[in-house]
Amino acid sequence: MTQDEMKRAAAAEALKYVEDNSIIGVGTGSTANHFIDLLAESRIPLKGTVASSVKTAERLKSHGIKVMELNQTGPLDLYVDGADESDAQLNLIKGGGGALTREKIVAAASDVFVCIADESKLVEVMGEFPLPVEVIPMAQSYVAREMIKLGGTPDLRHGYTTDNGNIILDVSGLKITNPVELESKINQITGVVTVGLFAARPADVLILGTPGGAKVVK
Ligand code: A5P
Repeated sequence: MTQDEMKRAAAAEALKYVEDNSIIGVGTGSTANHFIDLLAESRIPLKGTVASSVKTAERLKSHGIKVMELNQTGPLDLYVDGADESDAQLNLIKGGGGALTREKIVAAASDVFVCIADESKLVEVMGEFPLPVEVIPMAQSYVAREMIKLGGTPDLRHGYTTDNGNIILDVSGLKITNPVELESKINQITGVVTVGLFAARPADVLILGTPGGAKVVK
C-alpha cells in the first residue's frame, strides 16, 4: 500500500463513526480530502457539516454536501481530521496545512474527535515535525524570540497567509515531552493566535492506515 492508500484506508474506517442525520466537523489536508470524497460516495444522510478551512468548504460543496457555520449548529456530534504527528496518548501536532486555528475551534466544539492518518504519523515523542504557530503579523519577531527561549527554532512560512489573515511560524527542534504544559505556555504568549498542539483537547480515537489496512488506536 502507498502512503496515500493508507490515508484513504483510515478515512474509510472513519465513516463508521458518522451517524445518520448528524452534523459533523470536517478537517483539512490530504487525509481529510479522502474522507470528504468517501463521505460523498457513502450517501450517508447528514444534517450538515462544518468546515475547518475555506478549501475544505469548497471540496464539500463541490460534492453537494451542505456546509454550515459553526455559530448556527450548537455542539457537533463528530469531528474527523488528519494530523501531522500523534503520540500514544493521542496528543497531536496539527497545522501543516495551515488550518490549525479553525481546526482547534471545530475540535473543541465536537463531542467526539476521530483523527485519521497513515501509520508514519504515530511517534514516541512529538516535535520532529515543526510545530505550527499562528501569529498576528505585527507580533512575528516578538513571538519568534519567545519560541527561541522555549528551545525552538522558528521559521516563517514564507508567502503564506491563514484563512484568518495571519502568519505561521513553524518551530523546529522541540522535544514535546509534556504537550499539555507546552500548549498552555505557548497559548499565553501575546500575539499567538493558536499553537498547533492539540493536547488540552486531544483526539478521542486515532485511526491509522497501515499496509494491512486500517487499525483503530484508542
Ligand atoms: C491542516 O492544517 C493539518 O492540521 C492537517 O490535518 C495535517 O497537516 C495533516 O495533513 P495530511 O492529511 O495532508 O497529512
